[in-house]
Formats: sequence, C-alpha cells, structure tokens
Amino acid sequence: IKRSLSTSSPMNAVIKNVTVIGGGLMGSGIAQVAAQTGHNVTIVEVNPDLIKKAEDSIAKNLVRVAKKLHKDDPQAANKFVSESQARIKGCTDIAEAVKDSDLVVEAIVENMDVKHKLFKNLDEVAPPKTMFASNTSSLSITEIASVTKRKDRFGGLHFFNPVPVMKLLEVVRTPETSQETYEAFMAWGKAVGKTCVTCKDTPGFIVNRLLVPYIAEAIRMMERGDASPRDIDTAMKLGAGYPMGPIELADYVGHDTSHAIMQGWHKKFPDNPLFKPNESVQKLIDEKKLGVKTGEGFYKYTK
Ligand code: 3HC
Repeated sequence: IKRSLSTSSPMNAVIKNVTVIGGGLMGSGIAQVAAQTGHNVTIVEVNPDLIKKAEDSIAKNLVRVAKKLHKDDPQAANKFVSESQARIKGCTDIAEAVKDSDLVVEAIVENMDVKHKLFKNLDEVAPPKTMFASNTSSLSITEIASVTKRKDRFGGLHFFNPVPVMKLLEVVRTPETSQETYEAFMAWGKAVGKTCVTCKDTPGFIVNRLLVPYIAEAIRMMERGDASPRDIDTAMKLGAGYPMGPIELADYVGHDTSHAIMQGWHKKFPDNPLFKPNESVQKLIDEKKLGVKTGEGFYKYTK
C-alpha cells in the first residue's frame, strides 16, 4: 500500500530547480556546479551589476572546466559552456526567484542578523516544498533555521573554494533536519559531482574546525618570527603534502572571511586559545588587504 505524500514533504524529491542567494565567490561557484550538472539555477543578488559580475566569473570558470572535460573537442567544450550558461538566470526579486524552487542555497555575508532577515522573508515567500540550506562556514545552522517554520527542511550544505574544483561537500544535519531532507541533500550533493560527508551542527563542521585553527597557528608562528611566511608555506606543501601553504591559503580564502569566523568563535569560546584572532590579520583588514581578491594580503598578487 502506498502512502500518499503531503505536498510539503521532500520525500523522494528530485532537486531540479535551485536558487542560490548571493553571487560572490561561493555563490557563483555553487551556481556553476549546479548548472553544469543539469540543474536550473537562479542567482539572487541585490543589483544587476552584481549579477553580471557573477555571470562573468561563472563564464570564465566554465571555460576552465570545459577545457579539462573536453580537451580535444573544442566544439563539445563550447556546447558545455553555452548549455550550462543557458540554465542560469539572475534575479533581484527574492519572491520571483524562489517560486518554483526545490532548494535554496544561501551564500551571503557571515552575519546572523542578515541571515535571519533573509530566511524569515524566504520562509514567507517560498512554496512549502522548498528546502533551505546555508553555506555558512562557521555559524550555527540551528540558529539560522530558528526564524523559519520549516526547520525539518533546513540543513547545511558547505562547499569549498574553488567550488568547481574542490570535491567535498559537508552536509550538516541539525537535530531537527528530517531524514528526508538529509537524504535529498546527500543525493543532490552527489548529483552536482561532490563527495559528501555528514557532520553534526558544530562550530566549523569538519574542515574549518581543523583548518581555521591550523591557519591561525601558522600566522602566530610567523608573528613570533619563528619562520618566514615563504618557509612556513614551503614546509607544509613539501613536508605535509598540502596543495597550498597556510599563509597562501589564508590569502586565498580572504582575511575578512576567516577573521569573521575567528571572532565569532572567540566570542563564543573565549577560553579556547586556538580561536584567538590574529593581530596581523586585523592589521591587514584595516589596510583593506583582504588577500588574493584585493591583490594583496600577506603576499602581493599581480593579475
Ligand atoms: N574554477 C574552475 N577551475 C579552476 C578554478 C576555478 N575557480 N581554480 C582552479 N581551477 C583549475 C585550473 O583550471 C586547473 O586545471 P588544470 O589542472 O586542468 O590545468 C586546476 O584547477 C589547478 O589550478 P592551477 O593550475 O591554477 O593551480 P593549482 O594547481 O595550484 O591549484 C587550487 C589551485 C585548486 C586552488 C589548489 O591550490 C588547492 O587545492 N588549494 C587548496 C584550496 C583549499 O584548501 N580550499 C579550501 C579553502 S577553505 C574553504 O573553502 C572553506 C570556507 O568556508 C572558508
């Protein structure tokens, strides 16, 4: 006997239409991998200029992926790029952007108040079937979800930068995330080509809980003058097999992002010395040297 499903249940749901809120580094990467794996994607940004910026960055990165996928077939590569691009549209109106959405992935600024405002609004305008996910690196998913009435259809989907290259997706379950939502997230992660790991809703989940203190320790080592940034990076690349050293990686992730994570954790866990924010990072932020994206962080970057 088959039980009928309520319209709000994502059970057996196939996620086809995806709305990505925020067209920054992470949002545009998430939109790209969804589109290149056949999903219809709507990117939401606050103005048309930011949508254009996201689309340009996606176009550039689609070409890189296409070159790898279709090395000896430029025609197939062009087709891959144009078909993926055709699946993406930009939108500045949230209600319009979510009206047919199966899944909303939020990738906006790491600020609880801003996320609460967004999700409160989304909860009112999105259809009942729509599942919500946050790509937050460090904030509590349970706390973000608390302003919605669909806590069973809410979880974390944490991607890594650069999204088209990094193969991991952390799927975060809160105590209230339903089994159906969790399974739909795992299936979607696989559908966008990622290997999924599962984690409870704990600070930093798996990767950032280990990576952020590691980067901060490396910066403290540099601040003490124990070794130069170049030598710390070379050491971890050649001695531990990391693709980037910790100082390079800090510049790559962006000092605004990692500093916001550290400050949030330091406030919550003031006694944990691993979460103590670095003074030299604060100095870089004051000087607007946020890393690769602004052309300078601990290192200088030329295009
Ligand atoms: N889109 C598509 N393709 C890209 C890309 C992008 N944005 N960035 C790089 N690539 C491709 C390149 O085209 C290249 O392809 P090829 O092998 O076919 O030539 C390949 O990736 C390697 O790139 P590069 O040759 O430019 O340089 P590297 O070999 O040094 O690789 C890297 C670059 C993939 C970024 C590598 O250095 C790396 O893996 N670094 C570590 C990144 C990392 O740790 N990320 C996690 C950060 S933490 C995080 O995201 C969590 C957040 O919450 C804070």
